[in-house]
Amino acid sequence: MTLRHYLQFKDFVRDDFDYLFERARVIKEKFKRYEPHHVLFDRTLVMIFEKASTRTRLSFEAGFKQLGGSPIYLNTQDSQLGRGEPIEDSAEVISRMSDIVMIRTFGQEIVDRFAAHSRVPVINGLTNEYHPCQVLADIFTFIEHKGSIQGKTVTWVGDANNMCNTWLQASEILDFQVRVSSPEGYGIKPEFMAGNTRVSLFADPMEAARGAHLVTTDVWTSMGFEEENAARMKAFADWRVDDEMMAIADKDAIFMHCLPAHRGEEVTSSVLDGPQSVAWEEAENRLHAQKALMEFLLLGRQ
Ligand code: CP
Ligand code: NVA
Repeated sequence: MTLRHYLQFKDFVRDDFDYLFERARVIKEKFKRYEPHHVLFDRTLVMIFEKASTRTRLSFEAGFKQLGGSPIYLNTQDSQLGRGEPIEDSAEVISRMSDIVMIRTFGQEIVDRFAAHSRVPVINGLTNEYHPCQVLADIFTFIEHKGSIQGKTVTWVGDANNMCNTWLQASEILDFQVRVSSPEGYGIKPEFMAGNTRVSLFADPMEAARGAHLVTTDVWTSMGFEEENAARMKAFADWRVDDEMMAIADKDAIFMHCLPAHRGEEVTSSVLDGPQSVAWEEAENRLHAQKALMEFLLLGRQ
């Protein structure tokens, strides 16, 4: 099989995603029926974490076990990665002892360099620039609730961060509109905007949300940007998803948040816990979507 990685959403084409969304549905149904799906028996996943995680670690670790394989957790603090071993050397070694690797780290160039020296598929479990596993699960969740995302409108409220950049890539590949509203100074950087024909920018987050099928947001301060927290608290004060904003969206609009959420900052509790929120199913779907992804990278289409 040709070696493929999932480092950015745009590493796959529309047909791959159509397959993955359908496969995630099948794998989820089997899981709900307690049917074993041990297609990766005897395989090993190495998970490398240079940033904190609850959902990503749990969904990859539980998911790989449910596929019959053995996950191994490495972090910066207690591996040689934290003591300056070059990422290229780490990739050479780790990929000789495992079948697939997931990395959560800072710069995208770190996962790119790891993949360039890896003998096995590499998955981006979040970088400063992208979070492709989350948007995979999010679009799977959207399809479960509302059918195809093609032609629909997704509104991003807040920081133009790794999640926003990934939604931008997804909009081009899966053909939907993205409206983005961010405070001045926290908008989409030119390199993530380049050539995107599906995005429109709004100064007013309420206008961005008008008629949207999905309203989504994320924390004001992402991991790695903590020193900017005080300035961000001021700048983002008007970029909060609340009941008024959900009311201006399409009457059947849904709300997503990749989590963890800061209630009262980017989203009110009444929206996060309200009837339009699918955030908890969205979190669960990380498990099913990533099982489909790992099966696909190791075994191809089933
Ligand atoms: N959404 C997400 O990736 O959560 P964690 O940081 O808990 O992994
Ligand atoms: N944008 C957030 C997502 C966390 C899952 C961060 O990078 O911290």
